[in-house]
Formats: sequence, structure tokens, C-alpha cells
Amino acid sequence: MNEGQLERRSFLAGAGLTAAAGALALSGCGRPLTSDEMAQDQAVAPPAEWWRQPSAPPGKHTLLELPYAKDKLVLSDAEHPKVRGISPQVVEWHHDKHHAGYVTALNRIEVDLAALTSFDAKANYSAFSELKRRETFNASGVWLHDLYWLNMLPGGAPLAQDSELHAKIVADWGSVERWRQEFVATANTPNAGWAILALAPYDRKLHNYACSFHDLGGVWGAIPLIACDVWEHAYYYDYGPDRESYVESFLRLLNWPEIDAAFVRWARCGAFR
Ligand SMILES: [Fe+2]
Repeated sequence: MNEGQLERRSFLAGAGLTAAAGALALSGCGRPLTSDEMAQDQAVAPPAEWWRQPSAPPGKHTLLELPYAKDKLVLSDAEHPKVRGISPQVVEWHHDKHHAGYVTALNRIEVDLAALTSFDAKANYSAFSELKRRETFNASGVWLHDLYWLNMLPGGAPLAQDSELHAKIVADWGSVERWRQEFVATANTPNAGWAILALAPYDRKLHNYACSFHDLGGVWGAIPLIACDVWEHAYYYDYGPDRESYVESFLRLLNWPEIDAAFVRWARCGAFR
């Protein structure tokens, strides 16, 4: 098994798509893949840096190292003084405390689950049932926070008009501005904890999902491309109740070329063609 195949196996296991693995020899329209398509499918691996956690052994997940200094997400715009980016203090708390907490909890849960000798699921309270209840919350918390940080770049970088993601957004929403308006509205939906742009396998379209908790509100098999954290810990210290200015800051900080590159690689995987 080559490196690309190993990456692909990790992708399948991590994405919860193992059950769909049998469908990977089919194209998006359900017909069998040609030999050329199968060769291309094997050559396309999802971006490993966006999917590093599932390759970690149980209990050995590590906190993502930020790809920029904590003071580099500050923005200054004289025309829009409310849009100030994200302060170093919030980056520090959010990454070093909140994000790190999900990693620590996930590791403890995995180790404790592996050590259980019985699975008392029916009891009003049992270690097994509680660990299972918390497993998806923390695993999703780790992954979405990884994506959140990796989505951003100091100063941001624009979406190229000739990029494949630009074309897909226009195809699915009519215009990038229309997508943007819906994404901002999604992020400002009451009780939303995340606004997520995801590529869904059921219709092979992009969707803006409003998720409450890390593991509530998504669609099975959908691949998040942009994850905007709108839990209060992400912005309240900087913006108070002005969530809209924080979301605007997040959008300005997006690293669109990387997001486009990730979209292209995911979209060419079998489940999305
Ligand atoms: Fe968060």
C-alpha cells in the first residue's frame, strides 16, 4: 500500500465514511469508474495537513501548532474600525485552553474506553455511556478547531476568480456574494456554535451548515472546508455581542488559495465525483 492509499484509508476511517468505502469504485452518477478514473482516484489524497488527527493512535492526539504567531490575526481598517481581527489574548485562550482541552479530553476518553472491560450501556449512569456521549463532542471539537486555525492566514488571501472553488460557489449559489450573505446569516443564527461550509456527498453540492455543538448539526460524510467558530469564547472578549464584526474579520482572514486547494482535492475523491 503506497502513501497515498494510506492517506486515503485514514481519510475514510476518520471521515466516518468507512461504510461508504464500497461505493468508491462508483462515479458520482453511480456507474463503475473507468480504469483511468480509478487510477486518478488513487492518485488524489485529501490534504493531510487538514486531516492529521485520525492518523494518531488512540490517546496520542496532539494539539495543532499554530502556523502563525498569536499576534498576527489583528486587522486594521480605517474604513471599518469595528473589524479588528482577533486579538493575541483571544488566540491564546482559544488555542491554548479551549482547543487544547478538547485534545486532552479526547485522549483521556480513548484511553479510558480502551481500558473498559465491560460495556454497561443500559444503566442510568455508566462509565461507558458517559464516555460515548463525550467522544464525538471532543473528537469533533479537535477537528473543527484544527480547521478553524488552518482556515486563516495573517492578512488573508483572496479567492481567485478562476479557481475551481469560485466556480463551484457560483454554480451552487449564483454568486460569491450570495454565498457570503448566507454564510454570514448562518453564523449569526441563534444558538449556532459553528458556521461551516461543507462539501456534501448526498448531492455533491456545497452547503452552509449551522451547527450548535461540535458534533450536532452536521451531515454524515460532508467535508468541512471552512469552519467559523461562533462560540462566545471565540469573540466576546474582543467584540462583546457584536458577532457580525467578528465574523467579518474571520472572512477577511481566510486563506482562500488553501481552501480552494483542499476543495479540489476532496472533490476529486470518489465519494464526491
Ligand atoms: Fe472554539
